[in-house]
Amino acid sequence: MRNFTTETEPTPVVGPWLEDLLPELIEFRRDLHAHPELSFKEFRTTDKLVERLEAAGLKPRRLEGTGLTVDVGEGPIATALRGDIDALPIIEETGLPFASKNHGVTHACGHDVHTTTMLGVALVLHNMHLISPLGGTVRIIFQPAEETMPGGALSCIEQGVLDGVPRIMALHCDPRINVGQIGTRIGAITSASDTIKIELTGRGGHTSRPHLTEDLVFALSQIAVNVPAVLSRRVDVRSGVSVVWGQIAAGSAPNAIPATGYMAGTMRCLDRDAWHDAGELLDDVVRQVAAPYGVDVHLEHTRGVPPVVNSEDETAIIEAAARAELGEHAVVLTPQSMGGEDFAWFLADLPGAMMRLGTHTPGGEEYDLHRGDFIVDERALGYAVQVLAAAALRTIRDL
Ligand code: NI
Repeated sequence: MRNFTTETEPTPVVGPWLEDLLPELIEFRRDLHAHPELSFKEFRTTDKLVERLEAAGLKPRRLEGTGLTVDVGEGPIATALRGDIDALPIIEETGLPFASKNHGVTHACGHDVHTTTMLGVALVLHNMHLISPLGGTVRIIFQPAEETMPGGALSCIEQGVLDGVPRIMALHCDPRINVGQIGTRIGAITSASDTIKIELTGRGGHTSRPHLTEDLVFALSQIAVNVPAVLSRRVDVRSGVSVVWGQIAAGSAPNAIPATGYMAGTMRCLDRDAWHDAGELLDDVVRQVAAPYGVDVHLEHTRGVPPVVNSEDETAIIEAAARAELGEHAVVLTPQSMGGEDFAWFLADLPGAMMRLGTHTPGGEEYDLHRGDFIVDERALGYAVQVLAAAALRTIRDL
């Protein structure tokens, strides 16, 4: 097995290439920020990227609808890099001079930074390639619709973006990490979250005679308590499987057993294999717990995304690149988030890693993702380009 962790280089490889480009990238990102677009509607964003990449002499390939890929370099693909390009249906409250002009839509998850980072990586690597051939290809994927379920990753994969790709890397802004640092973690870095909706039906009846009908409220309560209980005994507790109900409703009178009832909740899970097993088990357990009460069960179980699981080698490549470009203290350990991220689909058959990009100004305001006041320390953009371009170069060196 390769060991990248002990490698450090005394001077940044990518940093010097970025100087001329950085002001343009900052402008590009501000323009995207002012013109955010919702999932699968990123038409302007796609056009802007295609335009800039073509101006540089690259040959981007448009995906169906929105999104694109571009190959930089020549020869076999050493790695893919993925940036998500969509914004959220949230009203911007930052007061920035380049705040959203598209009212009710904002880049509150930093995907404008991810998009521009990937543009920067493409341009830097292409400029290097024009001076001295890279000796390999880096495929950059600008993915639409990360913010929806099941997300744009699956449609990108169906369109062959991973053909010939041996590994893939990505980034996500993290306002809890200081700018100039990245967060990494081997293993799961995000979580899975499924939605469960259950409808029960019976004949209804008088509460004095539950034996002559189906006691629907009793059955609902058994599902509420026993489904989480059974899962906690059938799935490894370290996988953090957690079924929590958010809705339960039935009945209209104290002395009438209702004919219909409804409950809904989520199943979250920290582990990819356990997510798969627990999902299958859940459907079965709901039916079995309800069975003795004679009610009809209609179950709607919507699978979300699996956790993003970072592989050891690719995490090490990113860490080594970050230390070489940004210094010895550039890498911090990041906790696993309970949030979901559709980058996980790219990792179904490939090794890869997602890094967290520090966007917090030391000593400055605290922000969170998916909020209208979310502000990024823009210095993060240049650092992200440095780290991911350097990581890509390391994968080429290893071809
Ligand atoms: Ni996001």
